Amino acid sequence: MPSDKKGRILVVDDEADIRESLDLLLTSEGYAVDGAENATEGLDRLESSLYDVVLLDLMMPDRSGMEVLDEVRRRDRQIPIFMITAYGSVESAVRALKLGANDYFTKPWDNQKLLIEIERIIAKSRLEQENIHLKKALKQRYSFPNIIGKSDRMQTILDLVARVAQTRSTILITGETGTGKELIAKAIHANSTRAEQVFIPVNSGGLAPDLLESTLFGHVKGAFTGAIASRKGYFEIADRGTIFFDEVGNIGLETQAKLLRVIQEREFMPLGSGETVRVDVRILAATNSDLRRLVEEGKFREDLYYRLNVINLILPPLRERKEDIPLLVDYFFDKFCKENGKFLGSDGRSILKFESEAMHVLMDHSWPGNVRELENAIERAVVLAEAPNVPVDVLPDQVLHASGIRIRRDASGYLPADASLFEIVADFERRKIVEQLEASNWSQTEAAEALRIPLSTLNQKIKRLEIAIPKKSDKR
Ligand SMILES: Nc1ncnc2c1ncn2[C@@H]1O[C@H](COP(=O)(O)OP(=O)(O)OP(=O)(O)O)[C@@H](O)[C@H]1O
Ligand SMILES: [Mg+2]
Repeated sequence: MPSDKKGRILVVDDEADIRESLDLLLTSEGYAVDGAENATEGLDRLESSLYDVVLLDLMMPDRSGMEVLDEVRRRDRQIPIFMITAYGSVESAVRALKLGANDYFTKPWDNQKLLIEIERIIAKSRLEQENIHLKKALKQRYSFPNIIGKSDRMQTILDLVARVAQTRSTILITGETGTGKELIAKAIHANSTRAEQVFIPVNSGGLAPDLLESTLFGHVKGAFTGAIASRKGYFEIADRGTIFFDEVGNIGLETQAKLLRVIQEREFMPLGSGETVRVDVRILAATNSDLRRLVEEGKFREDLYYRLNVINLILPPLRERKEDIPLLVDYFFDKFCKENGKFLGSDGRSILKFESEAMHVLMDHSWPGNVRELENAIERAVVLAEAPNVPVDVLPDQVLHASGIRIRRDASGYLPADASLFEIVADFERRKIVEQLEASNWSQTEAAEALRIPLSTLNQKIKRLEIAIPKKSDKR
């Protein structure tokens, strides 16, 4: 029984009896065999099915076997090809081998030798395929070294990133500020076939509309006042690479129309130019606003929205994947200890550890600024740390305040004997603020002035220290 397992062989030869005898020989050995009676049919079959070996006749009426060989190799096919010909000469043999044929047989061929060579080349190319496959698998597993996240939500995202990276699909990355949208966009680029080409981030919101257009599409000399020389736009510079539209919701409606055209047609006209420029650019976009709502409000083109939203990666806020916090903390400890050259162990990793109270605060905080906020908090902690055990008070105010750190008290309202320095300081701070507020008749503006701190800081401290402000009627 011929089987795909042993191997599929394509015989391209215009002579029916050659095809038949090869078919007979190979099928009896257990190979699956297809025949093609001319070059065109052979190339079609190679396009539509997978073969392990091609036996290719050198002389055919429509195109020579040499041309077919050249064509197949140009399509970058690694498929093993054996040339077969009655007109075997040393020159054509050498030429065929140069063009990438794997071996050469003259009619009448030696059946045993042919079978051995076929078996050998199949085994070899399967091994190579397997190696390529293994390398790919390895690459995929380790290709996001700078993206931390073992939570199911992040794993799902990373899985998707690995799968879409190789395609040319436009991808819309959404998520709150600091969730890693740009990081993911870069990872998509780095894992794509365009990795060697440029990645161009465009801060869509940061530029005035006219400036954005000339930045994107370029302009010719004299296109507008001040255009003293022609300039290439990002789209042209990004040709064969990736362009990343950050905060895509901020792009004005007019520029949106032009962007739509580039996405649809992959072409555009530089400002002031009558000529279209064609480019091959992968487009990624990110936003932390609700594009759907902008569409409803008429601020964002619906057609553009659908074009961008082919694949949507939704990055979860940090508070919805808290199991990633300890990993991120370690990762950022390592990063900033290296940067600051302090608290490094002999393995090159950070030896810093948060005291458990600090770790509780980190886990409790809602992280409105997401990973960026955490990253900043850790950087600050590393800079301030004086010993490997990092206390809670190195955490920034807004983290402490939002977490509503509790000052413990005993039954009579005093601090407990084992109060931490943080509790002692907080208690003292609290008493001072209450005193001043009372003196200022609970006017926070006045109290802030007297304490010589900004009103916003006083506000934060009132919340963090849980100071109850009396209702109007209770005030003196
Ligand atoms: N999963 C992660 N692992 C490691 N670092 C991360 C992760 N997510 C984000 N970061 C880091 O957090 C910071 C913010 O990430 P990034 O700039 O990609 O966020 P963003 O979603 O684009 O934010 P914004 O909406 O404010 O532009 C960066 O320094 C990034 O490297
Ligand atoms: Mg960003």
